[in-house]
Amino acid sequence: MLTRKVLVTSALPYANGPIHLGHLVEYIQTDIWVRFQKQRGVRCYYVCADDTHGTPIMLRADREGITPEALIERIGKEHLADFIEFGVAFDNYHSTHSEENKVFSSLIYTRLRDAGHISSRTITQAYDPVKEMFLPDRFIKGECPKCGAKDQYGDSCEACGATYSPTELKNAVSAISGEKPIEKESVHYFFNLADFTDMLTDWTTAGHLQTEVSNKLAEWLAGGLQQWDISRDAPYFGFEIPDAPGKYFYVWLDAPIGYMASFKNLCDREGLDFNEFWGKDSDAELYHFIGKDIIYFHALFWPAMLHGAHLRTPTAIFAHGFLTVNGEKMSKSRGTFITARTYLEHLNPEYLRYYFAAKLGAGVDDIDLNFDDFSQRVNSDLVGKVVNIASRCSGFIAKRFSGLLSGHCAEPELFAAFIIANASVADYFETREFGKAMREIMALADKANQYIDEKKPWLLAKEEGKEQELHEVCTMGINLFRLLAAYLKPVLPVLAGAAESFLNIGPQAWVADMQPLLNHRINEFKPLMTRVDADKITAIVEASKENLEKTIDGPRAKQFEPIADTIDFNDFAKLDLRIAKITKASHVEGSDKLLQLTVDIGDETRNIFSGIKSAYQPEELEGRLTLVIANLAPRKMRFGVSEGMVLAAGPGEQEIWLLSPDDGAVAGMRVK
Ligand code: 2FM
Ligand code: ZN
Repeated sequence: MLTRKVLVTSALPYANGPIHLGHLVEYIQTDIWVRFQKQRGVRCYYVCADDTHGTPIMLRADREGITPEALIERIGKEHLADFIEFGVAFDNYHSTHSEENKVFSSLIYTRLRDAGHISSRTITQAYDPVKEMFLPDRFIKGECPKCGAKDQYGDSCEACGATYSPTELKNAVSAISGEKPIEKESVHYFFNLADFTDMLTDWTTAGHLQTEVSNKLAEWLAGGLQQWDISRDAPYFGFEIPDAPGKYFYVWLDAPIGYMASFKNLCDREGLDFNEFWGKDSDAELYHFIGKDIIYFHALFWPAMLHGAHLRTPTAIFAHGFLTVNGEKMSKSRGTFITARTYLEHLNPEYLRYYFAAKLGAGVDDIDLNFDDFSQRVNSDLVGKVVNIASRCSGFIAKRFSGLLSGHCAEPELFAAFIIANASVADYFETREFGKAMREIMALADKANQYIDEKKPWLLAKEEGKEQELHEVCTMGINLFRLLAAYLKPVLPVLAGAAESFLNIGPQAWVADMQPLLNHRINEFKPLMTRVDADKITAIVEASKENLEKTIDGPRAKQFEPIADTIDFNDFAKLDLRIAKITKASHVEGSDKLLQLTVDIGDETRNIFSGIKSAYQPEELEGRLTLVIANLAPRKMRFGVSEGMVLAAGPGEQEIWLLSPDDGAVAGMRVK
């Protein structure tokens, strides 16, 4: 039999923000699949990296007053810490800002160039004369050319949905400096994607893609493939293009090459043969798990780049859908934009692993995290069904039989039924039908519980002469629990590990021709999982709302939140809004979000921590008038007590605007 060699990747998270639950759908999905392969004995490697280049990272580092290298190092560490705590077990986690990635990016580019697949021409683009840089579309704002809505980005209108080029925006300004952009020419490099039309027409219909994805690509291919602009002008955080000083690879050119770079880094560390996996004639399997929003990059550009550079193409690309929370897009104001860290501060990560597994299929449908359903499934399936089997049987084994299992298997047919299920459960895991796998495993758990219900060990324990039967029934229950733990191991590695310790056995391989544990001593049972505490979910939502208050972060945060519930005039009158003069502003050590402000509100001075660091340098603020809520109860924060709130508007990041009064206002005036 041919031994499989498998290399698996998840999309590289952008090093510009935290991992959130939306990201985790993919990492958990991939990790379950990889753990399943490894448990089956397949030689499988799982690599990933931070995606570190591009304008947003460069500008954020600038705003924070640090180098992009320092920024990506910090974010990379945060990402990896989140992944580890969620049990996402990469074999290697690297960075696209690495020597390996630079070498491969240059190699692929020069091979494409030398084969005639790169062209260059002069294009005209918006340029910020103050910042002295070309402006990506998302960094230009103005009025929509179709409906006139103000404050629209340079590529599309959020009010009417129109798409356009930034030069069409009316009264456009740079979102970085606020200055009117000018038009400026520069030479750009393009990848001639159309050279690969035939290759891609074959590749996208040859079983490498899910059917719905392949159909979508057929539409794109029918529309004709355009040249892809792969260069950006300095200043840009990325790799300079060989023989093109001042020109850099666009972040999306070197991002997927990061998959190769991370694997190369692993190969060098562990003495693996890189070419066995990436060489043109490699017989290894290569799978990319991605979100459906980045199919174009992975199913068109990427295979074309690899093919054009004489490298192997992926075996398959597995796209998944988006995450909604309680049926709606994740929302910062509703507290459903939940970061991995906020979740980890309150709940067991294995709850979420199980919940996502129960909801995931092989297609690109969105999945919904419904908090009631989440609690109900975890409580009923994991605590109520699976763990309960062990807890129902272990006490008798411990107390009546000194922890020793019986020497006889009472129900070989039931045990065999659990073993036979391995083929279909494995098939579901292999084909990423995790929801179906979980249903089948839970049906087995139901059978085990039914068996215990029928045999009633709690009654046998009281009856004379039923000692042997009690021993065999409980031994049977423990053995069925053991198989369930093995089936759930790809999804719940921590629970499975704790079960192995309780059962006094080594790491369980995939269920195949296992024999029951008989005459075997088990350890003391300790609760393997507790029920979801509903208060913890409330706390997560509240903390996520609080994050918004404190940080207002994310350039893609929604511009306009729904109008809040109506309040009456008395509620409004309770607010004491004051004109305040910022007399001092400084960075807060250890916080990448907050600035510390000293404000004069007339007859007193207040200390306020405000989440506006991403938008302002402290020195810009000193001497400025703004508005504060003066009668907000003081709040104890990690860095000190905040005695009020500064009012600001905007979606976040650099787009936060402190409110300023007109000339004539002075500190201490009440706003009415
Ligand atoms: O969409 C994103 O967040 C990208 N950072 C994904 C890159 S995947 C791969 F191509 F690197
Ligand atoms: Zn519009």
